[in-house]
Amino acid sequence: MSMELPEVGFGLWKIAADECADVVYQAIKTGYRHLDSASDYGNEKAVGEGIKRALAEGLCQREDLWVTSKLWNTYHAKEHVLPALERTLADLQLEYLDLYLIHFPIALAYVPFETRYPPEWVFDPDDDSPEMKSSSVPLSETWAAMEQFKSSGLARHIGVCNYSSGLLHDLMSYANHKPEVLQIESHPYLTQEKLIRLAKAYGMAVTAFSPLGASSYYELGMADAAESVLDLALVKQIASRLGKSPAQIILRWGIQRGTSVIPKSTGTARMKENLAVTNFVLSDAEMKSISALNINRRFNDPGDFCESAFGTFYPIYD
Ligand code: A2P
Repeated sequence: MSMELPEVGFGLWKIAADECADVVYQAIKTGYRHLDSASDYGNEKAVGEGIKRALAEGLCQREDLWVTSKLWNTYHAKEHVLPALERTLADLQLEYLDLYLIHFPIALAYVPFETRYPPEWVFDPDDDSPEMKSSSVPLSETWAAMEQFKSSGLARHIGVCNYSSGLLHDLMSYANHKPEVLQIESHPYLTQEKLIRLAKAYGMAVTAFSPLGASSYYELGMADAAESVLDLALVKQIASRLGKSPAQIILRWGIQRGTSVIPKSTGTARMKENLAVTNFVLSDAEMKSISALNINRRFNDPGDFCESAFGTFYPIYD
């Protein structure tokens, strides 16, 4: 299973819908065969256009692509899981997904497609003080609904994102179809060694999102340029030894430690750069020195951003 999931994928979070079809087409043309999409990114129709154009031009076949998408928080109740996947498939113009993931271990009140799609985090954005509205759906109910896609073939693989070790243990206790992939934030400032080790012990493949660290969060005001690992002397030194860029060193570290990585870039030069990380090797000492940068800095933390952006304190990590 992990053999099929290309080590370097292309992340689609925060790519504006009006440029996303071109970006996806370019990414496929550059050689990406793994696309990391989600209903919540608000650009799946455009992703579908990009894929369609690439396939129509014969850049690759559908079966050469690995397409991941994610079930949004408002669709956790068992009756909403299939319609949510069908909506994603319709937008992507695909008959099946390679991987469908529970986006967050957070169940929010249902918002019908006609009211708003994607519904994002707050229940009613027109409210005087918009807030998230949680819904008491256990994750076991959502997982049971996800399992049906294995039998129907609508999703070839299923998994979870943003789960902690405790939630993984719990999930393994009731899963009939075990989760096959765990997607989590991971980069040199958040190495997540125990969680990754546990997921692998459970036979899961692990995908690291925000593999370059802070840079994904500048535009959201959730990180500071001073927090960039790309500017560290250590990373620059290794880059210069190997004649690679700092980003290539960080992505190589990510795949060499056994995770897949899903960097995003809207520029073709960086797309190429980020893909070209499979033809060189970091020494054990270099691997260790990058791992030692860990400071458990989590940029994507609902315990922080839900309160500041969506008026609701909603921690999921301790
Ligand atoms: P851009 O889209 O302008 O290239 P992540 O994938 O970790 O979420 O990070 C994405 C961010 O990092 C984006 O802001 C992207 O900017 C930037 N980025 C992507 N590739 C590189 C690279 N090779 N070097 C420096 N920054 C990069």
